Amino acid sequence: MTEKDFLPQPYTQTIENGHYSWTAPSNIALVKYWGKKEHQIPENPSISFTLGHCKTTTTVSFSKIVETDAFSFEVFLDGVLKEDFKPKIATFFERIHAYLPFLKQFHFKIETSNTFPHSSGIASSASGMSALALCLMRIEQALQPDMNATYFTQKASFLARLGSGSACRSIEGPLVVWGAHSAIDGSSNLFGVPYPYDVHDCFKKYQDTILLVDKGEKQVSSTVGHNLMHGHPFAQERFKQAHTHMSAMVSILKEGDLDRFIAIVESEALTLHAMMMTSMPYFILMKPNTLEIINHIWAYREATGSKLCFTLDAGANVHLLYPENEASTVLEFIDTTLAGYCQNGHYINDVIDLGAKEL
Ligand code: DP6
Repeated sequence: MTEKDFLPQPYTQTIENGHYSWTAPSNIALVKYWGKKEHQIPENPSISFTLGHCKTTTTVSFSKIVETDAFSFEVFLDGVLKEDFKPKIATFFERIHAYLPFLKQFHFKIETSNTFPHSSGIASSASGMSALALCLMRIEQALQPDMNATYFTQKASFLARLGSGSACRSIEGPLVVWGAHSAIDGSSNLFGVPYPYDVHDCFKKYQDTILLVDKGEKQVSSTVGHNLMHGHPFAQERFKQAHTHMSAMVSILKEGDLDRFIAIVESEALTLHAMMMTSMPYFILMKPNTLEIINHIWAYREATGSKLCFTLDAGANVHLLYPENEASTVLEFIDTTLAGYCQNGHYINDVIDLGAKEL
């Protein structure tokens, strides 16, 4: 597939108005996307678990207007008009207009809400952009009813990527690969694909508890962060390492080798942060409590033989990943030991799931 494959054929139907609603989840990367080229093309492949509970629900209502030069839309979060969301959506519409030429022919009312609190330090861009892309794809499907299901899903992921790279991994589940990799059939830089090979039963219903260490706004926006990889002294080695880690994941996922899984996932998290610490300008996005939690996890693993591990995004919050059969013991460990390092003791229990749904 190339970009051109996502340019639509002339539409066969016309519609005046309507509305569609989708709910789309967040995702947590095991091998991280960090660094991108023009047009949201990732520097390296990544793989993520799709989450089940941290989700965005979006309804797009649309009505025909006389086409003008500008996009016509309004955005509401939890029923409140959000002028400050408009620039990001206008940029998104600008990037996808060639692929959805109807965008200037309608007025859109975009109503969105998240299952997780806005001030939780959990980014809503992946779930938000994928839910919006899916609603827009339903409009295109109404204009072009013979569209097949694979095209629908791949184009939704393709569009979501243009909103926020990691959003392209939030359409399907439970494991999604984004970025071309020689050992993963069908992998593409343009959209996410469901991981195509055998996955051991121990990864079914894998748990992700998000420890909310810092609920503040991101210190470094992802755009700034990705840009720091341009000219970074260790960038090329890092991109190579991600390819190696992706190859290793194939046998790890098949065999259920949790020790090797832990080694790669934790190394990826720390490498992501190491890239930020060694860029110019440099940033430390972990907080003292992030390190306290990591040290407690390592001690707990040593003492109990648990397969609990952590990963991090570009912030201080810690994602705890563990198999379902450890759920009750790990939750006890969280309550007795780790919750004390979270802001107001807050954490969110999530579990991997199958992806976005139409409502
Ligand atoms: C650290 O997808 O938020 O979460 O493409 O600029 O919107 P943009 O970046 P974004 O990057 C997030 C990267 C990460 C790692 C990952 O999810 O792979």
